[in-house]
This record gives sequence, structure tokens and C-alpha cells, in this order.
Amino acid sequence: MSTFPVSWTAEPGTALRGTLAVPGDKSVSHRAIMLASLADGVSRIDGFLEGEDARATEALFRAMGVRIETPAHGVRIVHGVGLDGLRAPVAALDCGNAGTAMRLLAGLLAGQAFHTTLVGDASLSKRPMLRVTTPLARMGARIDTGPGGLPPLHVRGGTPLAGVEHRAEVASAQVKSALLLAGLYARGTTRVLEPQPTRDYTERMLAAFGWPVDFAPGHATLTGGHRLRAIDVHVPADFSSAAFFLVAATVVPGSELRLARVGMNPRRTGLLHVLRLMGANIAVEPAGEQGGEPVADLVVRHAPLRGIEVPVAHVADMIDEFPALFVAAACAHGVTTVRGAAELRVKESDRIATVGTGLRAMGIRVDEAPDGAAIHGGRLQGGRIDSHGDHRVAMAFAVAAQCARGAVTIDDVANVATSFPGFVELARTAGFGLA
Ligand code: S3P
Repeated sequence: MSTFPVSWTAEPGTALRGTLAVPGDKSVSHRAIMLASLADGVSRIDGFLEGEDARATEALFRAMGVRIETPAHGVRIVHGVGLDGLRAPVAALDCGNAGTAMRLLAGLLAGQAFHTTLVGDASLSKRPMLRVTTPLARMGARIDTGPGGLPPLHVRGGTPLAGVEHRAEVASAQVKSALLLAGLYARGTTRVLEPQPTRDYTERMLAAFGWPVDFAPGHATLTGGHRLRAIDVHVPADFSSAAFFLVAATVVPGSELRLARVGMNPRRTGLLHVLRLMGANIAVEPAGEQGGEPVADLVVRHAPLRGIEVPVAHVADMIDEFPALFVAAACAHGVTTVRGAAELRVKESDRIATVGTGLRAMGIRVDEAPDGAAIHGGRLQGGRIDSHGDHRVAMAFAVAAQCARGAVTIDDVANVATSFPGFVELARTAGFGLA
């Protein structure tokens, strides 16, 4: 894991041009390893994200006795051990920076016959876990957290689980997924109702692996007692990685960029709608399906942006895109207001605070609220930014630097490798000034 600070120097490059292929989807890559490991038979995954988060999940399943081969970059052959075939690991399971790994595994491991401990890096160790452990306890799971409901998680296996109906208070695909994965091992029916619909990859992928799931936006239901059957998984490109280039090409004059075959799951594309409301010029050219997900080429041309009130209905569908959106808002004419996004406070960093502080250091007025911010568009100055080890904050400021008046130093960027290995090289290919 990258724990040492590394910095970038970013400054305006050229207009952004060309065709880019961003790496595989992080959410899908995690789930593909998990379900392929629990399936009967051999699964092949392609488009797998070679980032630290997905690789952390892969390493955890190896540590629990799953044979996983890497015949080529982005390809995994997973020899599934079946629903009850995992073995007790000899040491604590290190999730690194990956909240998805820790929260989903809390559910999956609650159903095993053995005990496990889940640990994470400094950032993950500050993220709330009661949102998964409390409803899992209602299913019969025994999971102890550290003080304040924080990691590490001590999951005591060997306890029978029973399905529950869970009405979630926060919109969280991780919470929903943790319960559904525990539900594989539970007697009876597990049902999750969400306050707003969230990404449905766990449901879609369980169904593709042959487990009956009843789901629609806002709810998901399954019953224990089935089996998972190995399949081939084709991971689409990650919309959240494409998002930085959507904003960059929009704000840098003269740009025209094509992002190839991006995953367009409707629960992920909120930023596209919001950027269009702000005046962005982004054409969507449908390119069929990949692994059961719609994919499209996105062609983005420079366009002036205006500030808007971001519709709360889009917030859950762009929850990972706010660092990029805040930068778009800083480059827009007028004020952009975000509300209903308190979840940003408990991501890899407190993203309202880290992005707000960074934009202020670049001369932009940002008024913070507990659940959002008002960003006053203006002229960005150079400066020094602390990304607080948050991959998406670091990449958002690399974008901000493309239209700043001076050079920007961005500190603590090593964790960009968790979600977007090769970001610097790809961004430079497109025309970024980044070193
Ligand atoms: C994810 C769900 C979201 C998202 C995270 C990945 C997932 O988290 O922010 O990057 O793969 O299920 P929450 O469930 O906390 O909203």
C-alpha cells in the first residue's frame, strides 16, 4: 500500500485532445473477485482494475485459500471454492484504503465458519463501520468494531444468520451489498430498502452468477440456500475515472476528447446530467453492453459553464464525483450550490473540507455547509494543495491546475494508485501539464 507522501506539480498544459481508455471499474472489480471466489467452477475476469484497492481484495481471497491466476494485465482466472470453501486466514485481512472491501467483507465473512479481523490504512481506519455492523447484528452476526465504531473489525464466524428487512437511513451501496452478501448465508429472506437508489452491481452480478435476486431501483431482496456458478466477467471502464477528463475537457479551451467505452450504469452517471445542466457539451455515443452494463463513448468539447443548484435527486448517482464537480463549479460563471451530500464528510477524506480548503487556497470562495457547499466560480490561482491521501481529491486538483494562473503543487497523491493507476501518464497524453 502507498503510505508515503508523494507530490505532483501541475500547471496548464495544452488543449486536451485524442481518445482515452480509462481503467476498469473499481466497484465491479471488487465484486467480481468476491463472487468468483465463492462460485463453483472457474471464472475469468477481464478489464480488471489493476489498482491497489481491487488488488487488496484479490490478496484477501488468496489469503483465504482461493487460487487466482494473472495470465495478462487486467485478466484474472479465479478458481472458485464454492460458498463454504474459504479457509481461515493466518493473519488479519488488510483492506488497505478500500472501504468497499471492508464493508462488503464484513457481511460476507459474518457467514463463514471461522473468525477474521479486518484492518485498513490510516484513512480507512477513520471511516464509520456501524452502518454495516448494526444491521448485520440484527441478522445474528457478531462483529466487534474498534472504539467509536471504527475499524478494525473482528468478525466472529460460526454463528447462524437469519434474513431481515433493513430500511437503510443512508443511501449506501456498500451497506446494501454487505447485507446481501450476508444474506447468501442466512436462513430466509434478506431485504434492503434504500432512501435513494444506489449502484446495483452486487444485485446484477449475483444474478449473473445464477443467484435469484429481486431488485429494482431502491430495493433488493434475496433468499439463502442457492449456489453461485462460475461465469466470465467483463469489467467496463470506470465512469468515476472518466469524470476527471469530462470536467477537464469542458473547462480547458479548445479541448475535444473522446473517452472510449465507459460504463454507463444509470446509478453512476449523475455527473453527466449535472455538467449538462451547467452547459457542458458531452455527446453520448452508445457502444453496446459489456458484462451486462451499458457502455458508451463520451465525446466532450470545451464549453463555458454556469453555476446551478445541483438537484438533490442526482446526489447519490454522482457520490464519488463531487471533487470533480467542485472544480467544474470553481471554473463556472456564478455560484453552484450542493446540498444533501453529507456522505461526502465520511469518504476517503472529508471531501467538503478537503476540496473546499484546496479551492480557497487557489483563490475561490467556498462556503461550506454540513451537507454541501456553495462554490463561487472565479479565476483560479496557483498554490499548494494537501489532498489528504484522497485519490479523487488529488486528481480533481490536477484538473483545477489546467485552468489556473500559476503552478499548483498537490501533496500526498500516492493513493491515486488505489483507483487510477497510470493517471499521470494518461493525463499527460491528453495534454495535461503534470509531473
Ligand atoms: C461503492 C459505494 C459508494 C462509493 C464507493 C464505492 C461501492 O460508497 O462511494 O466509492 O462499490 O459499493 P457508499 O456505499 O458508502 O456510498
